[in-house]
Amino acid sequence: MNNDEEIRKKIDSMDLSAPPPENEPERQYYFIKAARKLLKEKFEADVASGKALERYGKERLDEMLTKEFFGTCCVVTFGCQMNARDSEKLTAILEQIGYQEAEDENADFVLYNTCTVRENANLKVYGRLGQLGARKKKHPEMLIGLCGCMMQEPEVVQKLKTSYRFVDLIFGTHNIFQLAELITRRFLEKKMLVEVWEGTDKIVENLPVDRKYAFKSGVNIMFGCNNFCSYCIVPYVRGRERSRSPEEIINEIKRLADDGVVEIMLLGQNVNSYGKTLAEPISFAELLRRVEEIPGIERIRFMTSHPKDLSDELIQVMKESKKVCPHLHLPLQSGSSRILKAMNRKYTKEQYLELAAKIRQAVPDISLTTDIIVGFPGETEEDFLETMDVVEKVQFDSAFTFIYSKRTGTPAAAMENQVPEDVVKDRFDRLLKLVQETGAKVSGRELGTVQKVLVEEINSHDSHLVTGRLGNNTVVHFPGDASLIGKIVDVHMDEFKGFYYMGTKVR
Ligand code: 5AD
Ligand code: SF4
Repeated sequence: MNNDEEIRKKIDSMDLSAPPPENEPERQYYFIKAARKLLKEKFEADVASGKALERYGKERLDEMLTKEFFGTCCVVTFGCQMNARDSEKLTAILEQIGYQEAEDENADFVLYNTCTVRENANLKVYGRLGQLGARKKKHPEMLIGLCGCMMQEPEVVQKLKTSYRFVDLIFGTHNIFQLAELITRRFLEKKMLVEVWEGTDKIVENLPVDRKYAFKSGVNIMFGCNNFCSYCIVPYVRGRERSRSPEEIINEIKRLADDGVVEIMLLGQNVNSYGKTLAEPISFAELLRRVEEIPGIERIRFMTSHPKDLSDELIQVMKESKKVCPHLHLPLQSGSSRILKAMNRKYTKEQYLELAAKIRQAVPDISLTTDIIVGFPGETEEDFLETMDVVEKVQFDSAFTFIYSKRTGTPAAAMENQVPEDVVKDRFDRLLKLVQETGAKVSGRELGTVQKVLVEEINSHDSHLVTGRLGNNTVVHFPGDASLIGKIVDVHMDEFKGFYYMGTKVR
């Protein structure tokens, strides 16, 4: 029996006439059953009155009746891989409650899983929410939920309470596991429900998860962050670092492998400090060694590394491993040691260059990618040129470049010398150009060779092609069909197109 069936059985065995259990995850199993009952009752009433037919149309309604769904849902993810993984958990809880995933936001329950890393992320959410409010005017029975990083900011919640009264449910990053409990309460209380925890030391295991891809999956290894880079809001919204136990992680990956997953991405804000705070400390490199032994797992990726914690032991594991992919995302943020100090990054330009060289020496074909912020307070032209210099020297395959965004409550927000917008824009354009040029130069290194490719999907522009990734994460398109999805195949790299290949399958 797989894990999902086990969880389903446990949910079904809950006794709703008894009070809810105190322990997790049993408490959430209880509320999944309770919410399911309430949703079903409403759905049956709507079927009887003809409202359901009007809302879903005959075809959809028939499908819902046969598959035992009692409503539709849509989870929209903003932000990083951590949020994407959280959304898979949220979707699974909604499905267990009886919601069927809808194609778009025309659904009975719409949940925005938000990001707040830059101001732009917040603006996007408000924009989409405005449109959703207009939709709700036409369908007053729909429920709108908001969760994730943005909700951890009190000013955001205040603004929602005053200007977005139509929102039904608000919760944060620390209590996403409570979704079923909160929905049950919202069903019963029938008014805006806000439940945001300031922090937690809890990690709730064994809740359902709904994977977006059958053959690859993210796996959380830790939550939160202790680094306090001076520009970054993450430690405030995701809380202190908490590592999952290696046994829980290994068991989850074994179950994924049994279920057909061949590639996993170990997720954490700073994976290199994994395990340091556990009762029995273990290093990230050691965790990788243990994951490597799991049969069925072919590729191991991880995200994100902090240069200050990247150990020689990890470089050694990357060098020796057959499964750890030759790709390292190593955020630089700035190439100026002076700015790095103000950012509280705890490394210098020289240390970063040394580290990059050491990694390249150990794993020569590795793809190095990075994040860079332009326009941090006090950044001068000289500082910026140091950043350009590192990009030239390291030769990144690709880089995410960001304009510095002031986040209330972070130390950098109070710094003087914020850089004028036009200066930042000019630097940003110059950096982007250099990043694209170096990327185009180095990412073509496999041209003319045969590479192992994990096929991910049918090409979105041409259905005769499939799209997959090399171990170093470079994308390749080649002729093929849906039967290849999830398989690792040998592909010849015929042509390099700047940042992706066109190829031919060799067998
Ligand atoms: N402004 C701009 N970029 C930021 N990042 C984090 N905080 C900010 C900010 N305040 C970037 C960093 C990080 C990536 C996820 O987002 O480069 O690595
Ligand atoms: Fe991810 Fe950070 Fe955005 Fe939260 S604020 S979604 S942790 S990038």
